[in-house]
Amino acid sequence: MKNVLTIAMPKGRIFEEAAELLRKAGYRLPPELDESRKLIIDVPEEELRFILAKPMDVATYVEHGVADVGIAGKDVLLEEERDVYELLDLKISTCYLAVAGMPDTKMNDVAPRVATKYPNVAEAYFREQGEQVEIIKLNGSIELAPLIGLSDRIVDIVSTGRTLKENGLVEYERIEDVTSRLIVNPVSYRLKDSLIDDLVARLHQVVSTEEF
Ligand code: PRP
Repeated sequence: MKNVLTIAMPKGRIFEEAAELLRKAGYRLPPELDESRKLIIDVPEEELRFILAKPMDVATYVEHGVADVGIAGKDVLLEEERDVYELLDLKISTCYLAVAGMPDTKMNDVAPRVATKYPNVAEAYFREQGEQVEIIKLNGSIELAPLIGLSDRIVDIVSTGRTLKENGLVEYERIEDVTSRLIVNPVSYRLKDSLIDDLVARLHQVVSTEEF
């Protein structure tokens, strides 16, 4: 498969923007990519193979070399510190990591608890603030935690802010801006450098001329 580039694509909300970006970069991608439930889709005319993965897993596939490149959120890259190179900020799926909680509440002095899908990011953030917290790892619907008394604060992604608002929560601190990045496996980058350089150049052209 030396002449085929395997791309790990995130399923879900990032997918649409990522596919649009690739199409704008001139790749003719079949509608099957958007519509099918297949998890591996070959596009031989573009010498591409797509693997459709959960956003949290994209960097894992790339680190292990079963995908040459991938599109991964900076949130996941910060959390997992995978052995991959980050080649390009794709400037899509813009959001940010923030600390949030119930309005007008102080963190519990004795054993403050923070619920999150990002335990490493949260731990590092509160350590830098000089606060010792207990991290509670959840896998989704993080906003539930302060509502039902599981935690004092959450660390989570804010995109439109709707989830916080509709659940009566407020943002306390903004931790880091997040966009999707093009990542590459270091060995693939050596073996398939011209294919990858071409992909990067084409995407860079689109990203640098888009209005954001
Ligand atoms: C993410 C995030 C927030 C929400 C923020 O959850 O964890 O819950 O989106 O978006 P908003 O600011 O536009 O409301 P996601 O929908 O990915 O699902 P999850 O709860 O399973 O993490």
